[in-house]
Amino acid sequence: EPLYIITPTYRRPEQIPELTRMSHTLMLVKNVHWLVIEDAAVATKQVTRLLERTGLKFEHLTAPMPEKYKQKKGAKPRGVSNRNRGLQWIRANATDGVFYFADDDNTYDIALFDEIRKTKRVSMFPVGLCTKFGLSSPIIKNEKFVGFYDGWIAGRKFPVDMAGFAVSVKFLLQRPNASMPFKAGYEEDGFLKSLAPFEPKEIEFLADNCTRVLAWHTQTKKNEPSAPLDMKLYGETNLVKLKQ
Ligand code: UGA
Ligand code: MN
Repeated sequence: EPLYIITPTYRRPEQIPELTRMSHTLMLVKNVHWLVIEDAAVATKQVTRLLERTGLKFEHLTAPMPEKYKQKKGAKPRGVSNRNRGLQWIRANATDGVFYFADDDNTYDIALFDEIRKTKRVSMFPVGLCTKFGLSSPIIKNEKFVGFYDGWIAGRKFPVDMAGFAVSVKFLLQRPNASMPFKAGYEEDGFLKSLAPFEPKEIEFLADNCTRVLAWHTQTKKNEPSAPLDMKLYGETNLVKLKQ
């Protein structure tokens, strides 16, 4: 059964390097279908080219953040329109398998994907380098779920990271109203709540009862875009220089 990886991405100097790294991880995984969704009005052709070179089964879609959120000061709901577009694609095209929201800048152990395939309904697992605690994870004591470890609980019913859960396609298809809210900081919680009826006691715990970290919330340092932007963005600077 296919494993759908929903990846939001957007144009910036780090975009191609992030997607290169991530694609090389996914190239080691069997039966993945990568949904790469750009927060942009028009798909970036260098991204399409990269995707074609991977040999992976993929969709390259666009879903710009609505203007009203873009103009908001402070925290923005990053990647939300992209992920909702991914859910829409799954509803229209998928019948079985599992999906996972995988941001383009995280680090994934290929063993994670074999774990995720076991998901019957909703599964969870630890994410490293996440929040001020350095880890976000369900806590299992004597084989029993006792709560969540996360540096930012914030009244959330499901205080987990985007990279810390996976959902079966069949389970989603039975919940036509499930979606991700445009609410910065509460995207995961809002989405998981929208899967109701679904309670924390029903979570399937993966990665040896949440004792193994197989995903990390790594963050790449921001780089200054310098002229000419497009060349720098897409690694063609040297090529162009050599040609001159
Ligand atoms: C934080 C949380 O730790 C994540 O669990 C959550 O997925 C994310 O915020 C979020 O806001 O959704 P953080 O590393 O700060 O993660 O966020 P980014 O990696 O900057 O963005 C999340 C995803 O959205 C990335 O895949 C990124 O490429 C994409 N994105 C970001 C856009 O599509 N548009 C943007 O303007 C910014
Ligand atoms: Mn990130």
